[in-house]
Amino acid sequence: MPTSSLCVWSPSTYISVTVRRAARLVLCTFLLSCVAAYLIDNMRVFQLTTALGSIIVSATALTPEQLIAAPRRSDAIPNPSGEVALFSTSEYSFETHATSSWWSLLDLETGKVTQLTNDSNVSELTWLGSTDSGLLYINGTNAEIPGGTEIWVSDTSDFVNSAYKAASLPAPLSGLKTAITKSGDINFLVYGESWPNGTAYNKELVATPLSSARIHDSIYVRHWDTWLTTRFNAIFSGTLKKKRAGPGATSAYTSNGSLKNLVAGVKNLESPYPPFGDASDYDISSDGKLVAFKSKAPELPRANHTASYIYLVPHDGSNKAVAINGPDSPGTPKDIKGDSSSPVFSPDGRHLAYLQMEDISYESDRRTVYVHTIDSKDTIRTLAKNWDRSPGAIKWTADGKNLVLNTEDSARSRLFLLPADAGNDFKPKNFTDGGSVAAYYGLPSGEYLVSSSAIHTSRTVYTAKPGEGVTGVVFSANEVDPALKNLGPSDADEFYYKGNWTDIHSWIVYPSGFDKSKTYPLLFYIHGGPQGSWGDSWSTRWNYKVFADQGYVVVAPNPTGSTGFGDKLTDEIANNWGSYPYDDLVKCWEHVRDNFDFIDTSRGVAAGASYGGFMINWIQGNPLGREFKALASHDGTFVADAKVSTEELWFMEHEFNGTFWDNRENYRRFDPSAPEHIKQFATPQLVIHSDLDYRLPISEGLALFNILQERGVPSRLLSFPDENHW
Ligand SMILES: *[C@@H]1O[C@H](CO)[C@@H](O)[C@H](O)[C@H]1NC(C)=O
Ligand SMILES: *[C@@H]1O[C@H](CO)[C@@H](O)[C@H](O)[C@H]1NC(C)=O
Ligand SMILES: *[C@@H]1O[C@H](CO)[C@@H](O)[C@H](O)[C@H]1NC(C)=O
Ligand SMILES: *[C@@H]1O[C@H](CO)[C@@H](O)[C@H](O)[C@H]1NC(C)=O
Ligand SMILES: *[C@@H]1O[C@H](CO)[C@@H](O)[C@H](O)[C@H]1NC(C)=O
Ligand SMILES: *[C@@H]1O[C@H](CO)[C@@H](O)[C@H](O)[C@H]1NC(C)=O
Ligand SMILES: *[C@@H]1O[C@H](CO)[C@@H](O)[C@H](O)[C@H]1NC(C)=O
Ligand SMILES: *[C@@H]1O[C@H](CO)[C@@H](O)[C@H](O)[C@H]1NC(C)=O
Ligand SMILES: *[C@@H]1O[C@H](CO)[C@@H](O)[C@H](O)[C@H]1NC(C)=O
Repeated sequence: MPTSSLCVWSPSTYISVTVRRAARLVLCTFLLSCVAAYLIDNMRVFQLTTALGSIIVSATALTPEQLIAAPRRSDAIPNPSGEVALFSTSEYSFETHATSSWWSLLDLETGKVTQLTNDSNVSELTWLGSTDSGLLYINGTNAEIPGGTEIWVSDTSDFVNSAYKAASLPAPLSGLKTAITKSGDINFLVYGESWPNGTAYNKELVATPLSSARIHDSIYVRHWDTWLTTRFNAIFSGTLKKKRAGPGATSAYTSNGSLKNLVAGVKNLESPYPPFGDASDYDISSDGKLVAFKSKAPELPRANHTASYIYLVPHDGSNKAVAINGPDSPGTPKDIKGDSSSPVFSPDGRHLAYLQMEDISYESDRRTVYVHTIDSKDTIRTLAKNWDRSPGAIKWTADGKNLVLNTEDSARSRLFLLPADAGNDFKPKNFTDGGSVAAYYGLPSGEYLVSSSAIHTSRTVYTAKPGEGVTGVVFSANEVDPALKNLGPSDADEFYYKGNWTDIHSWIVYPSGFDKSKTYPLLFYIHGGPQGSWGDSWSTRWNYKVFADQGYVVVAPNPTGSTGFGDKLTDEIANNWGSYPYDDLVKCWEHVRDNFDFIDTSRGVAAGASYGGFMINWIQGNPLGREFKALASHDGTFVADAKVSTEELWFMEHEFNGTFWDNRENYRRFDPSAPEHIKQFATPQLVIHSDLDYRLPISEGLALFNILQERGVPSRLLSFPDENHW
């Protein structure tokens, strides 16, 4: 549930690693070991020069290498009867320097895991309709079309021998979603890039142009790590026809290969929205006839608005997509102009639930639940509008009477039950508690199969029931992954302290073999966003436990700007980047110094990325900087006036409350590069910044490093030519 712009620390983005993305994620995690190694290096230097004492590293400590090589598992998807679930695992090897991946079946009764296939051509394995053993998957190669893919059908009973090709896809399409039609066919959706004329884009069929020059006539030149072109993401629909064979023979699915681009019919639509948009940006009704998707507002410049609408379109593409909540839609709720997301059809196909923010240019505004009644074009109801939480995902219960929401809540992601007829004052109740829910699927028992992670585990699969809570644990990574076997809930704790204007939450994470009677150096963790949070979740990048296990106690506060504690805490950071949050951090550091005898704050290191990197740079030029032995900033802004070189202009226009020309004083108010701050720089600093960061271009890191060096502050620059902001 990425709410934060400068840095997305979303568990769903980073924990439920799909096989396709595993390789890229592995690269990202090398950063972590570099930061850890740097911090250890520096501490060694300080030990020699200031004789501050030793760092205690336990023999059972989790190393950066172990974190990187530990298995990464996708969500567990149950079959219709709820007997088994499918999931994938990927694993990086330091011996072969390669990532291998495989799919497994998890027996939900016994917890037993059996491997189904380790063929790397298999991705997005899912259940075929209402069968308990039939499978559908995307095959990453295409026998006829270079760069194309295929849809295959198979069966759990004999994966290899029962597999056959059902459709050829002309491009690298993915994001398979299906519904069985009345006549037994499978209507499917996939997505990928589209040429302006609606044809699926296949990179391998395109000749390298003779010139690499680019020309642009309007804003939005690049986005995150990509230079934008006239191509866009689109959803394609197709059908696998059920061939009814004669008596005794099994039926089979085939496709004539024809695909309809459901997005291209309306100018300027795009879905899913890159880079984080995925199959959750669209849905197909249970009868396969109707498709819903989100797209950014086609009539507005994309770089300076977050507005997006939900569209409905027939699966066969016989009509153009129509917005249900656009400026011209009859039912659009008054003054609701922000980002729409998560469209989901009710089981009977008569309603569509979705989420939407109010503000037209604020990406971290609260999401509210809306329900649209299909065929009654002007009806959109709001549910629990006054609930001070921002759900990130919706599912209908099987009876269509309730919605189950995955919602960030006090540094966890919990499941909440919301009746579909709830009024605006209704306060949904959670039925899960610790950790962070990454995915959840309904079971015939009325329970949900939940895939989650926590500070102490990369994956737990459990069942939970609305109104009851957790009913059983099916799988725990800590029981099977050797590197994780010494981790447990007691590795982390939390506390609240008096911040600048309200009570602030913080995690505290202990190293392995922690002994309260000893003292440990402090690692002070500052999150990005700024609208984000340190949650009870596992990360393969900023993993609390790996940092802690280098001999530190990690303190990870959620100061002003953090999400999951209500709108006010989130919203108060606008125009206040260096004030309240800085003061919240100072007060956290003082609280730690005064209350935790086992933490030696005189041996402290602070680290942060994105907004957290900005904050590190701000701390360097302010009194708190003198309390640390070393600082690490990853992709932080440094020069206030350089903010305008970013890509999503709405972000800074919201955060600094106005334009670069009319409100320049807001941009400059908290400028780490102002002379009076630079003159305070004194603490050794690691600067991490990579070439493909188009949000805060590499020049920010270079400028900072240049200044640190010229001021004679011990510093190092770590940069990757092929890495982006995250
Ligand atoms: C897949 O598993 C088989 C049998 O365990 C093994 O021989 C093979 O090397 C594996 N292939 C890959 C690509 O991991
Ligand atoms: C994937 O399919 C292609 C085409 O048949 C084949 O050459 C390749 O070996 C397959 N990969 C694996 C891991 O089986
Ligand atoms: C994937 O597709 C290729 C090309 O059609 C085929 O040779 C290969 O056997 C398929 N692999 C699987 C696992 O479906
Ligand atoms: C669409 O445009 C692409 C790129 O110019 C081209 O290769 C393709 O043939 C076009 N498709 C149709 C149906 O005209
Ligand atoms: C392919 O199948 C679809 C869906 O059944 C149908 O609408 C379309 O007309 C067919 N196209 C061709 C070229 O046969
Ligand atoms: C957004 O950019 C467009 C130009 O692309 C400009 O006309 C419009 O005024 C801008 N809106 C805001 C709110 O800055
Ligand atoms: C709901 O969350 C609260 C914390 O706000 C927790 O104490 C409670 O146990 C959770 N309920 C369930 C059923 O997990
Ligand atoms: C809150 O922070 C502001 C800005 O740094 C500061 O001026 C003010 O004194 C702080 N308030 C309290 C109660 O600490
Ligand atoms: C932003 O600016 C508007 C007027 O331009 C003002 O009313 C509002 O208080 C400002 N918000 C903040 C957070 O400074």
